Amino acid sequence: MSRFWNFYAQCYDALRVLLPYQELLQKTVRAVLAHRGEKISVLDAGCGTGNFPVTLAESKGEREVETLEIDASTAMLQRANKKTCKLPWVRLREMNLDNPIPRESSSFDCVVFLNALYALKDPEKTLTELHRLLKFGGTLVLANPRKNPKVSDAFKAHFRDLFTKHLTLRNLARTALYLPAFLLVAILNRFFIKKQAIRKRYHFLETEELVQLVKTQGFRVYTTELLYGGTDVFLIASKVLVHSTTKDADTITTEIVSRPEDLDAIYQVRHQVYCIEEGYLDPNDYSDQKESDIWDQHSVQIALRKNDRVIGTFRLIRDSVDDFLFAKTFAIPAHLDRSRLVDGSRMCVLKGERGKRMLLALIAASDTWCEEHGVTHWCFSAPRRLVDFYYSIGWQIQELSGSVEYHHTTVVPCIRTLKNKPCSL
Ligand SMILES: C[S@@+](CC[C@H](N)C(=O)[O-])C[C@H]1O[C@@H](n2cnc3c(N)ncnc32)[C@H](O)[C@@H]1O
Repeated sequence: MSRFWNFYAQCYDALRVLLPYQELLQKTVRAVLAHRGEKISVLDAGCGTGNFPVTLAESKGEREVETLEIDASTAMLQRANKKTCKLPWVRLREMNLDNPIPRESSSFDCVVFLNALYALKDPEKTLTELHRLLKFGGTLVLANPRKNPKVSDAFKAHFRDLFTKHLTLRNLARTALYLPAFLLVAILNRFFIKKQAIRKRYHFLETEELVQLVKTQGFRVYTTELLYGGTDVFLIASKVLVHSTTKDADTITTEIVSRPEDLDAIYQVRHQVYCIEEGYLDPNDYSDQKESDIWDQHSVQIALRKNDRVIGTFRLIRDSVDDFLFAKTFAIPAHLDRSRLVDGSRMCVLKGERGKRMLLALIAASDTWCEEHGVTHWCFSAPRRLVDFYYSIGWQIQELSGSVEYHHTTVVPCIRTLKNKPCSL
């Protein structure tokens, strides 16, 4: 099989001229750059001739990114090396995606997996491996051919886009120049790749099948669309923690969220709990029925979902110019390294959904994130009964004072020491 990919490498880059392929690469780059955090580490699985890092280099600006490009074909990697040797943040390795990938769990913020899944022996097994390599909240960008794709549709889409949106002399000249290579790509697709799919050695999947496959591996799919002239399914998904599937078949998951619509859902839950159910905050201060404040922009936001509905949330405030919310009322011990400290705040679950199980799911999510990002301490304040519950589950807590009045309730200010080893931030 690698003989085929080594041969395909000779003409593969003709596809770079195709406008629908450029669109696919640009959408992938946008999804990767949407990731929050100072430095983004990316795994490009089945990288081919390195067109993803080349496109990323054109748009990443000052963003710090590092990518590991892996592929089983030597010829594909040789081409990739020629194109990326001047990009110090790109590393190339020959690896077979049918085998375990020798990297530590939670090593990457994003996995890019474009048109390679279909060629693998066991796509499910490889997706499990990619899930292991992603951090909690990490992004999977995946493209895979639909059943019975017609290569001619991709070419038709190219000519349609060329004449309607991108008619330049350069594009016309490149199209004419690459026509023979397009023909060779079309022949390889028609007489090799498609035949492998008919023999069920290659896995072409419709949107629903691909979504289902990805979901069962512990991802939440939040975007799907057809690209490449309608021949490819393109999806973006986030790694979630699946906590339980209850007997009435409800699935409880937690997720790190940052997209505006997910943040809105969180702020609405907070409004419901803090303004309506508990009356800690005045609902008149939140005419849009979303409770948020200046610390949200500095926070890691966790959503607790029952099936698809957000029923709870929690945030970990990071150190910033706005300091910690906790520090407005309580003194943070000076010896703590603030870059490894978070302020655990706004933990809440809708009335009727509350219980130990939900609380533990939110704690597991935040502990996972803290472990992956080298956080060693939390500051938080909570009612005495909750602090006692935290002792009962083995937390190491330092109480900073006795109970104090805070927002119409009585709380104990605490520092929690996390047991994980500090790792790189
Ligand atoms: C159609 S190309 C896609 C390349 C690239 N992702 C892109 O979008 O331009 C498929 C790639 O998957 C690679 N591939 C196929 N089977 C593989 C395997 N078992 N392990 C690693 N790479 C594999 C091929 O060598 C080829 O480079």
